[in-house]
Amino acid sequence: IHNLGLENSILNQFVLELRDLTIQKDSMRFRKNIERIGEVLSYELSKTLNHEIKKVQTPLGAKEISVPDKQLVLCSILRAGLPLHQGLLNYFDSAENAFISAFREHKEGKDEFEIIIKYLASPSLIDKTLILADPMLATGKTLVDTFKAMKKHGTPKQIHIVSVIGSQPGLEYIKEVFPDNTHLWIAAVDEKLNSKGYIIPGLGDAGDLAFG
Ligand code: PRP
Repeated sequence: IHNLGLENSILNQFVLELRDLTIQKDSMRFRKNIERIGEVLSYELSKTLNHEIKKVQTPLGAKEISVPDKQLVLCSILRAGLPLHQGLLNYFDSAENAFISAFREHKEGKDEFEIIIKYLASPSLIDKTLILADPMLATGKTLVDTFKAMKKHGTPKQIHIVSVIGSQPGLEYIKEVFPDNTHLWIAAVDEKLNSKGYIIPGLGDAGDLAFG
């Protein structure tokens, strides 16, 4: 787990603005802040990708540079994953992309819910690095069910989960399910969930704040 909110950086300003109930009403700023967090997390995770030495020719000579692996698949969970996806794509220019839809379906009058997946489009994941993006990691059920659904596209060689705010119980739940070669890159971790499975204090409903 790489909780980058524990370090002093500009990342915390973006998270503060997402949480602040007066600032978060500006949906364009809300989306932009998620996108910027996606960029910061991309940069940090890029340091752990496999690198290879490439030789580049300048007008005046040659230089060897160590650059990261390009065999990436970015997979975002609709809807709130979209601005985070854009942030990742701003840095990983040539990544392949996958999208999956997931929403909570409540049993009548109850707090319990199951995750319904209706759409999944993905390239092959075989021997690639999979980056799963979802700004909210509440109960963790969405991420786990998404990962199970993606298995039919092959086994990736490494998995990175990119998220903005997670809950401690959600983190523990996904740890049990995801394989050992999984990294989690996250901007903040809150202690608990309420009875409806929302992160407390969290920020509210990221999908609604970003897209209405
Ligand atoms: C939110 C969020 C995650 C999920 C996290 O999506 O974007 O996908 O909930 O919850 P979990 O960890 O408990 O599964 P939501 O259902 O609000 O959909 P939306 O993004 O389309 O609004």
